[in-house]
Amino acid sequence: MAETPKISIAELNTAVSGTMVVITDENLAFGPVSKDRLKPTGNLVERIAKIEKFKGARNKVLNLTAPAGMNLEHVLVVGIGNPKDMNAEHWLKLGGTIGGRIPAGARNVTVLAELPSGKLSPEDAAKVALGIKLRAYKFDRYKTKKKTDGDDAKGTPAPQIKIAVADVAAGRKAWSDANGIGDGILLARELVNEPPNVLFPAEFARRASELKKLGVQIEVLDEPAMKKLGMNALLAVGQGSERESRLVVMRWNGAKKKSDTPVAIVGKGVCFDTGGISIKPAAGMEDMKGDMAGAACVTGLMHALAARKAKANVIGVIGIVENMPDGKAYRPGDILKSYSGQTIEVINTDAEGRLVLCDALAYTNERFKPKLIIDLATLTGAILVALGQEHAGLFSNDDKLADRLIEAGKVTGETVWRMPLGPAYDKMIDSKFADMKNTGGRYAGSTTAAQFLQRYIGKTPWAHLDIAGTGMAAHNTEIGDSWGPGWGVRLLNELIAAHYEK
Ligand code: BES
Ligand code: MN
Ligand code: ZN
Repeated sequence: MAETPKISIAELNTAVSGTMVVITDENLAFGPVSKDRLKPTGNLVERIAKIEKFKGARNKVLNLTAPAGMNLEHVLVVGIGNPKDMNAEHWLKLGGTIGGRIPAGARNVTVLAELPSGKLSPEDAAKVALGIKLRAYKFDRYKTKKKTDGDDAKGTPAPQIKIAVADVAAGRKAWSDANGIGDGILLARELVNEPPNVLFPAEFARRASELKKLGVQIEVLDEPAMKKLGMNALLAVGQGSERESRLVVMRWNGAKKKSDTPVAIVGKGVCFDTGGISIKPAAGMEDMKGDMAGAACVTGLMHALAARKAKANVIGVIGIVENMPDGKAYRPGDILKSYSGQTIEVINTDAEGRLVLCDALAYTNERFKPKLIIDLATLTGAILVALGQEHAGLFSNDDKLADRLIEAGKVTGETVWRMPLGPAYDKMIDSKFADMKNTGGRYAGSTTAAQFLQRYIGKTPWAHLDIAGTGMAAHNTEIGDSWGPGWGVRLLNELIAAHYEK
């Protein structure tokens, strides 16, 4: 499929043309409308299923091209296995699977969103639509040669996709929300995918400022403003770069009570991380354009919340810098006075994310007194060693918040795994010359990074998500092959929807 599809909600008995998608279970049973539509084909589905050994397992697809008796180009029969095992994430992935099988050049696609037993909930139908939307995303802006066929065909017109549901009004409402979340995810993907010569801090801040259109209040702090506030840790990281640093505050005030204490989400936005004077090896350094995935998630989340008019007060704060080595760059040995007043001895200029976050966190905590703070950061290579790309590392001073995040992870499939914190780890970052040092040695690298952050959040319930593994260089899944997955938007949207709205 090429180009962004236009997805809309229609009546279950809407007219179909082009491609029809029907859902079947492990018994090859169909919903009443689908069954009726397939009647003219006789027992074609059963015969082909037998030949192809198609048993209706989840995410398996049978493609009937130009089936006799129907004026259609394709019928896609999509398996869900046992309907009782289908959860929200499975419906999303089913949508992604359908999206991946839409024939190149298809103009019209209708998905009959019904279960063999009858109705599919509007929310689950909207998840199918969202899966199709996410699967269709391609970051190909910088490719000048158009491919004309295949899955990544460029320039083919966007297909019109109808999701046919039993209750159109409820379906439209559910899709309107899901579509807003989808746009937030795609924004986060786009920001992570953009090259670092295009997406530098001021440009990131400009793109975040576009959320004004959705009713998000935006403040952008430039270097003089941050200097005045004493954000010397964040500023030190950016001082070796030709590009100026920024801090962006985004506010969505959707709660019924405007004075409700907000939830705050803080993101690491290192637009490019060379390591600075403690420079990184050349191999794979290009991936460090994704070192702003935390900030991208925060921005995408704010988009999602505003687009679906979430009934919550949420503050998003992103610290955006570029970590470069030059004559003005900060050095190992430097001692920095952070916004909080605490001093930091720099041991390694490649441990820059915590320096950006400590000022962003302390500022957010002091200014907004939020009911909780969650930060997201591509903080340590060590979290990749521990958890790979399957879970983000979760560190928290609050069991309730941690449990809620773990639960939201299970619901969305953006899973998190809790890691330890404690005084023995905290001691590892004590410094001979200052209040703390910015690295804790070889062992427990992800935890000592989290201990560093914890020194800046006081008693506020706080969770830190180390997304170095999940936030970039994603592998292909049903819902897309984008290098930047937009990880965390669904997780935090779910957390807020489940616990902090109304
Ligand atoms: N941005 C990196 C962490 C990272 C590594 C993200 C791989 C994504 C993939 C971070 O700034 C960093 O360089 N961390 C150092 C910390 C060390 C110097 C204590 C690391 O993990 O090696
Ligand atoms: Mn680094
Ligand atoms: Zn980094």
